[in-house]
Amino acid sequence: MRMENINKINAPLDSSEKSVYPKIVDKHNRSFNYLRLAVNEYCNLRCIYCMPEEGLPLRNKNELLSKQEIKKLINISAQLGVSKIRFTGGEPLLRKDINELVKYAVSLNGIESVNLTTNGILLNKYLKDFELAGLTGINISLDTLRPDRFIKITRRDNLREVLDNIQLAIKSNIASIKINVVVMRDFNHDELMDFINLTIENDITVRFIELMPFDSHQIWKTGKFYKSKDILKDIQEKSNQIKLIDGSNTEYYALQIQGAKGKVAVIPSYTRSLCGKCNRIRITADGKLLNCLYSEDGFNLKTIIQNGGTDEEVRSIILKSFVNKYKDGWLAQNSSENQRESMSQIGG
Ligand code: GTP
Ligand code: 5AD
Ligand code: SF4
Repeated sequence: MRMENINKINAPLDSSEKSVYPKIVDKHNRSFNYLRLAVNEYCNLRCIYCMPEEGLPLRNKNELLSKQEIKKLINISAQLGVSKIRFTGGEPLLRKDINELVKYAVSLNGIESVNLTTNGILLNKYLKDFELAGLTGINISLDTLRPDRFIKITRRDNLREVLDNIQLAIKSNIASIKINVVVMRDFNHDELMDFINLTIENDITVRFIELMPFDSHQIWKTGKFYKSKDILKDIQEKSNQIKLIDGSNTEYYALQIQGAKGKVAVIPSYTRSLCGKCNRIRITADGKLLNCLYSEDGFNLKTIIQNGGTDEEVRSIILKSFVNKYKDGWLAQNSSENQRESMSQIGG
C-alpha cells in the first residue's frame, strides 16, 4: 500500500491544516524533521566494530522503550513537525511488534516517510507485511560480499540470507533500498568496485560509510580508518565511468556510473562535513533523547513518561534540547563526559 492511500490520524491541525505546535529548530538555522528511533539494543550479529564477541551487558526488557512509549514519542514528534521516521537498533527486526510500529508511524498526520535500518537477516519474514504497511525505505548493512570476510566482520555465518533478502527487497514495492557498507583499510577496501557494480543493474544506493570511534576495542585506532575523501578519490581512480551527482544530507558525496540504474554515495560520518545540514533527532533504545550522534548527554524521555510527564512536558523538553544544539559533532563530542562504546543503542 502506498503512503498516500493511507488514512492519517492524530496530530491536531489548525484551520489551514498545519500542526498547532512549534517546529524543532536551533540557533544555527537548522530545523529537525527526521526522527531516528533505536527500538532495540539486541542484535543477531556481533560486528567487530560494534560489539564484543560475548555481546554487551544487556538491560532488562522493561528498561527499553515499550510499544506504547514508542507510539507516544512518534506521535509527539509528528506534532512538532517531524515528517521522516527511521527505526534502527540494535536489530529492529528482532522486535516482534516492528510491523505494528511501522503501521502506526505511517498512519500519522505529517509523516511522509517511514524507514528501517537493518542487518537484513530476518527481512524475508517481514517484507510482505512492510509492503502492505506502506514502509518507504530499507537500509541494509552489509560490509562484504565474501563469505569468509562476512564471518570475520560479523562473527556469524549469515551472508547467504542477507544477499537473498537484498534481492527480495529490490523486487518488492518498497521505494528505496540502500546498502550501508562500513569501509575499512586492509579489510574490505578492495571491494569498492564489487559493491559499486551492484548499482549497474539494480535500482539501489550503495553507501560507503566512514568507521566511527564507537567500539570498545577501538578498532579505528589500528590504522583501518578510511577517510571519505580518500574513498571518493579511490573510486574515481578506479573508474572513469563514475560521475559526481547531487547528494543529500548524509550522502555528502553522491556518484553514479553512467547508465546505471542505481547510485553510490560516501558518508563522512567521522569527518562530519555533514553537520551544517543536520536535521536529525535521536532517541536511544532506553529512551534517551540525543541532539547529536556524538553526544552522550540527553534527557531520558522514558523516565519522564513513566513518572507521569505530560505530552506537553515531553514536547517542551524536545524543543529545549534542540535550541541549544552544538554547531557540529566535534563540539558535541568534546562536551560529552563519556565516549560511546557501541552503536547498538543509538543505531547510527
Ligand atoms: P537515509 O535516510 O537513507 O539518508 O539514511 P541515513 O543515512 O539517515 O540512515 P542510516 O541508518 O542508513 O545511517 C547510515 C550511517 O550514516 C550511520 O551509521 C552513520 O554512520 C551515518 N550517519 C547518519 N546520520 C548521521 C549524523 O547525523 N551524523 C553523522 N556523523 N553520521 C551520521
Ligand atoms: N562506525 C560506522 N558505522 C557503524 N555502524 C555501526 N557501528 C559503526 C561504527 N562504529 C553502522 C552499521 C549500520 C549503521 C546503522 O551503523 O553498519 O549500517
Ligand atoms: Fe548489530 Fe548493527 Fe551492531 Fe552489527 S552494527 S552488531 S548489525 S547493531
